[in-house]
Amino acid sequence: MSVNVEASVIHLQAGCLSVVLDCSLKEIPRIAYWGQALRHESAQTLRDLALASQMVAEGNSPDYLKPVGMIPLESDGWMGRPGLSGSRTKGLGWAPRLALVGLSWTGAPATFPGESVGVLSGPGTLEVSLVDKTNKLSLLLVIEMIDVGIVRCCARITNDAHSSYLLDELGLVFPLPLEANQILDTTGRWGKERHPQRRPVTLGTDLRESRHGRTGFDAPGVTFVGAEGFSFASGEVWGLHTAYSGNHRTWVEKLPTGQQVFGGSELLLPGEVELGYQESYTTPWIYGLHSYGLDCAANLVHSWLRSRPGHPKTPRPVTLNVWEAVYFRHDQEELCQLADVAAKIGVERYVLDDGWFLNRRNDQAGLGDWYVDSEVWPGGLQPLVDHVHDLGMQFGLWFEPEMVSPDSNLAREHPEWIMGAQGSTDADQLPPLWRHQQVLNISLPEVRDYIENRVVSLVQTLGIDYLKWDHNRDLIEAGDLTAQGRAAVHAQTKALYQLLDSIRQRCPGLEIESCASGGGRIDWEIIERTDRVWVSDCIDPVERQEMVGQLVQLLPLELMGTHVASPVSHTTGRTSTLSARGATALWGHFGIEWNIATLDQPQLDELAAWIAFYRENRALLHSGKVVRCETPDPSLWLFGVVSEDCQRGLFALICRDRAPLAPIGRLRFRGLNQGWEYRIRPRVVGEPPGGLTQPPWFGGDATEPGGEVPGTVLGGEALELSGVATPRLNPEQVLLIEIEHHQFGRS
Ligand code: DGJ
Repeated sequence: MSVNVEASVIHLQAGCLSVVLDCSLKEIPRIAYWGQALRHESAQTLRDLALASQMVAEGNSPDYLKPVGMIPLESDGWMGRPGLSGSRTKGLGWAPRLALVGLSWTGAPATFPGESVGVLSGPGTLEVSLVDKTNKLSLLLVIEMIDVGIVRCCARITNDAHSSYLLDELGLVFPLPLEANQILDTTGRWGKERHPQRRPVTLGTDLRESRHGRTGFDAPGVTFVGAEGFSFASGEVWGLHTAYSGNHRTWVEKLPTGQQVFGGSELLLPGEVELGYQESYTTPWIYGLHSYGLDCAANLVHSWLRSRPGHPKTPRPVTLNVWEAVYFRHDQEELCQLADVAAKIGVERYVLDDGWFLNRRNDQAGLGDWYVDSEVWPGGLQPLVDHVHDLGMQFGLWFEPEMVSPDSNLAREHPEWIMGAQGSTDADQLPPLWRHQQVLNISLPEVRDYIENRVVSLVQTLGIDYLKWDHNRDLIEAGDLTAQGRAAVHAQTKALYQLLDSIRQRCPGLEIESCASGGGRIDWEIIERTDRVWVSDCIDPVERQEMVGQLVQLLPLELMGTHVASPVSHTTGRTSTLSARGATALWGHFGIEWNIATLDQPQLDELAAWIAFYRENRALLHSGKVVRCETPDPSLWLFGVVSEDCQRGLFALICRDRAPLAPIGRLRFRGLNQGWEYRIRPRVVGEPPGGLTQPPWFGGDATEPGGEVPGTVLGGEALELSGVATPRLNPEQVLLIEIEHHQFGRS
């Protein structure tokens, strides 16, 4: 039930987060404070908190320096990036002023301890209605408090005039204290996603734009800002995520007035959003989070994602994806044999990748013609699907629904369905090819219907359990050719969400993986509609360890596809041991992408041992807290998961390179119960990691067959404060370390 809120200062509090809104100006709300939950403030002190946050103006600036609103406007004297930018014909309506006309709260009970103060504790949604009577615009700002302590906001603007309103941008910002002087986000490229980058906040705007028509390999992920040097373990940080799978912006801005904000918006192309009378546009969700240390921030996000009703609940099945095993070489007998071998070693889901549909013998033809190619599949796909099901595995199938090959029946029949901006379907007027393909305009209902019906019909007739939904190019000159080439990335992104929603509704139980040449479409909006992401096309364990270590800021491990590939990486050419590949793929939703039919028995046994180990440990890995420990040696990386109840932890000690010094120093483990005792011991699965030199705390030789050693018992406090001597490893090797609550009397 909603209640009207008549208060000028509103304290929103959920979990570990407080957001104090100052609405006293009866304009767009201003965030007076957001950060650690305020637990002891009275009505009076909350009111004064808002007052106390107002800054003094420097010389030659607006006489009254208004605190920045959640949608910064020029009318506030804000000289930075405007939150709302748009105009009507003849340049009118470009300088909006928004007056607050109503506040309503839906959620946990609201209290009003003082006349002008509202305390809205617990999860819920505050809706703020604003109007600009002069410029005939109205705006609804939605602020949702998520129970774990995350806030997300969006805004919907409506045109109340009969003349159209051309929207350039609508974005939302959160203020940041000036102590927060360092930015951490990620960037990347194909096969090298999630590369972290730190830089100082400087005066001006630090703007990250994604113009890829998909989230992008180089998307910032969660943008963190904190005092220089914040780490996995410590340092106050504020995080922001623009949850959008199309073009978007994220920025950090610091003005000479001493005001500092970060914000997010959709990046609209020229003319993309033109609102007619009573038409509306809604921004993506912009998420804000606050925490101490990056691990805490990651775990907050994981708790939220895990609490969603649609979060995958079943144990994440060991997956065999046949892409790097066979590429386009589809042969029913060979693929059935692969399934046989897979089932024997414990695989639970089999995914047939690209190459099964009409004329798709390579990446130059066929996209759009979603019919099984009888040339390579004379009996259709049913025999393979049945074979896989009979072996007790789920069956998954690859699609790239938003794409079309110029060499396809679809492109020949419907050239107007291809996206283009020059108003012509002539090949030389279409966008540059990328992987020999063009983009289908799924914002057209007839295109969406075609795709949806093809996908649903195949899912239902064949009995498909899982879709790998790929997207292998950026959107360039992505216009609607049925509307003279008008920009259509916004419409395309919304249409994707609609398509996914509709397919999921029609195919209950179907799981979907978001893949875009690897990790090109990973964000919190796509993850509302998908059950797994493909982290990267680069499966090289050295690269993957880094990516997964960063991606946990966005997603918990169970949503990340991580595979054991062949010994020589197809992307980097680096050779790695099965021990390193297995111990890397463990940290995620484990799978295989390797022609396992070519392996000899000892190799199959070793792979089976990794599968068994993953299956034994996935409940922990997919529900526990992530812990990343800095070590004294930058070439060593210690990554782990500790169960929520602190009973058990599993860590990977990763030696990336050879450091100038021998492995000195100790490994210190966080996340345990300091008052308990723990047994700590190495776990060797299959071949021991190369170059392992074993310190005395192992209590035996872990490289002996079976590899079970007693380890040693230490207090949680000692493990964190004193630590254990670092075992030596060769470069690119991984050692697993298990830590279990130890009660004397039990072995
Ligand atoms: C790109 C994906 O990331 C790969 O895993 C594979 O599915 C290919 N596309 C297929 O074309």
